[in-house]
Amino acid sequence: MSQNPVRPRRSVLYVPASNDKALAKIATLACDAVIIDLEDAVLPAEKAAAREKLAGILANRPARRCEMVVRINALTSQWGADDLAAAAACEPDAILLPKVDTARDILEAGDHLDEAFVPDEVKLWAMVETPKALMNIGAIAELGRDAASRLSCFVAGTNDLVKETGIQATPDRRYLVPWLMQMVLAARAGGVDVVDGVFNHFSDSVGFARECAEAAAMGFDGKTVIHPAQIEAANAAFAPSVAALAEARAIAGMFALPENAGKGVVVLGGRMVERLHLAQAEKLLAKAAGIGA
Ligand code: COA
Ligand code: MG
Repeated sequence: MSQNPVRPRRSVLYVPASNDKALAKIATLACDAVIIDLEDAVLPAEKAAAREKLAGILANRPARRCEMVVRINALTSQWGADDLAAAAACEPDAILLPKVDTARDILEAGDHLDEAFVPDEVKLWAMVETPKALMNIGAIAELGRDAASRLSCFVAGTNDLVKETGIQATPDRRYLVPWLMQMVLAARAGGVDVVDGVFNHFSDSVGFARECAEAAAMGFDGKTVIHPAQIEAANAAFAPSVAALAEARAIAGMFALPENAGKGVVVLGGRMVERLHLAQAEKLLAKAAGIGA
């Protein structure tokens, strides 16, 4: 079970901390989470100024429920330590670590937070975007089983993976898919959420909807997005469908009947339904309740 099974992460919007116009827009948007970015979206010359704005940004959270996450620069970079301290002081819902290579990278960031007495509610998210992270993904995910590690979510960094490996970025993502599936599998093993990488062509709504549908079928909890125009489609693609909800309610209803109380297996519409399907149905209904569907 994930640490926050009912917290939706269908659409996770990157907003550069250096872009005032985009920051002002957050309150009007329907994304499930926002990543205030200090890393790749911010030029080196603007890093310090962007970091100084964090407190003001986090003090102005949207009134509606929306997780606020800060992506810092790598702790191995010249900005990382100051970013981590500044982000922690704002107590966001999570701090997103880029370029994670090993489980140790997460443990070290967690140690810094513990030493600064940052509340346990401040979680860590991890970018999976380096070849080393993929080689170590099992050990990294295992940290999700220990709440003290704070690890709560993986974010696929597909642009970096393409860059670091030299694979061709095709529209069907055929060379990325094996690694994306590895991330999903590891996330489930560790009980953490996992959101897919960005779709760069934000004006191509057809291509975006197709990639969201594929990512949902692959088991991702949601998609990172770069533009407001992508939020609605992601929210729709990663929400339980009407048909899936009806099916879940029917399964829950079957097992709730007094005559089925002691049964492990029942028959619904000519097919076998087991208690594992009930557990799946209950998870889906809880997810829908979390979204408000
Ligand atoms: N978050 C919030 N608002 C955003 C936004 C974002 N990521 N991207 C665009 N907007 C806003 C714009 O400010 C504009 O607001 P307005 O209606 O008040 O004028 C509106 O949405 C329309 O934007 P548009 O003109 O179509 O795009 P743009 O040229 O301003 O920005 C990008 C395009 C790609 C530069 C911008 O979307 C962006 O910076 N995205 C995030 C990139 C990022 O963080 N990358 C790192 C992780 S991969
Ligand atoms: Mg990256």
